Amino acid sequence: MSGHTAFIGGGNMARALVRGLLAAGDSGIVVADPDADARAHVATLGARATGSNREAVEGAALIVLAVKPQQLRTALEPLAQPLGAARPLLVSVAAGVDCASIGRWSGGLCPVVRCMPNTPALIRAGISALYAAPEVGADTRARVEALMGTVGTCFWVAEESALDAVTALSGSGPAYFFLFMEALVAAGEAMGLERAVATRLALGTCQGAARLAAAPGAPDLATLRRQVTSPGGTTERALDVLAAGDLTGLVQMAVQAARERSVELGEVLKQDT
Ligand SMILES: NC(=O)c1ccc[n+]([C@@H]2O[C@H](COP(=O)([O-])OP(=O)(O)OC[C@H]3O[C@@H](n4cnc5c(N)ncnc54)[C@H](OP(=O)(O)O)[C@@H]3O)[C@@H](O)[C@H]2O)c1
Repeated sequence: MSGHTAFIGGGNMARALVRGLLAAGDSGIVVADPDADARAHVATLGARATGSNREAVEGAALIVLAVKPQQLRTALEPLAQPLGAARPLLVSVAAGVDCASIGRWSGGLCPVVRCMPNTPALIRAGISALYAAPEVGADTRARVEALMGTVGTCFWVAEESALDAVTALSGSGPAYFFLFMEALVAAGEAMGLERAVATRLALGTCQGAARLAAAPGAPDLATLRRQVTSPGGTTERALDVLAAGDLTGLVQMAVQAARERSVELGEVLKQDT
């Protein structure tokens, strides 16, 4: 691949990807951000930082769009001419901004891939869903898989609208697990455990449960749950309480609400034409 990797926006998600790319041996990274602190942070990672988006994209083969969704149009429109001439691959991590809007704002000549990562990407344990229009070819897709593979695992979705559900499940998902762990810690403290001990137990249990469920040959989640739940035992008593409070229904409502918000935000950004 000729040309470097450029980032428009040098915030949290950009830095996670820069770290991953550098660890994977990509040394030609240029990050543009108007904020001097963000540039200084990027420079400490070992990437080149600039205040000029135009300078960053000059000669780039792949450009990661890593600004906030509402900042994307302002960042892209002034770049339409150089992007139209060079036609690099645009990879957007901006939640809710569809390929059509990105195409319109960038002059319509670059291939566009959308990506929905999550914050465990910061420690290279993220999971990302990717979407590209059907005409985007296998080589381009492989380049994006290589990029996102540096911060975790990734997979393709066939419909762009699926990214709203992905945003609701795995994009926002870390917060759901943090909340559940916070609740476990509080419950542990209420039973007299020290906070540090309760925290260690909650985190270790969450991590262990996830690893057990993801282990090769592991049974499905319901079977794993039943394996912990002896008839008449402690787990059963706790799960009865969660069922009485309709935890499953509540989770469905919560994730559905997140999806609806993602759709809503996308509609607002689309109107901004
Ligand atoms: N963090 C997550 O969990 C997560 C998960 C999935 C997707 N995403 C997506 O990733 C994107 C970035 O999120 P983030 O958390 O990394 O945001 P962030 O920390 O706010 O980073 C965005 C950076 O871009 C800079 N910027 C603003 N306008 C710019 C412009 N015109 N040109 C170049 N840079 C500009 C911002 O500077 P100022 O601060 O001065 O505005 C900021 O430093 C968002 O679109 C978000 O939807 C984030």
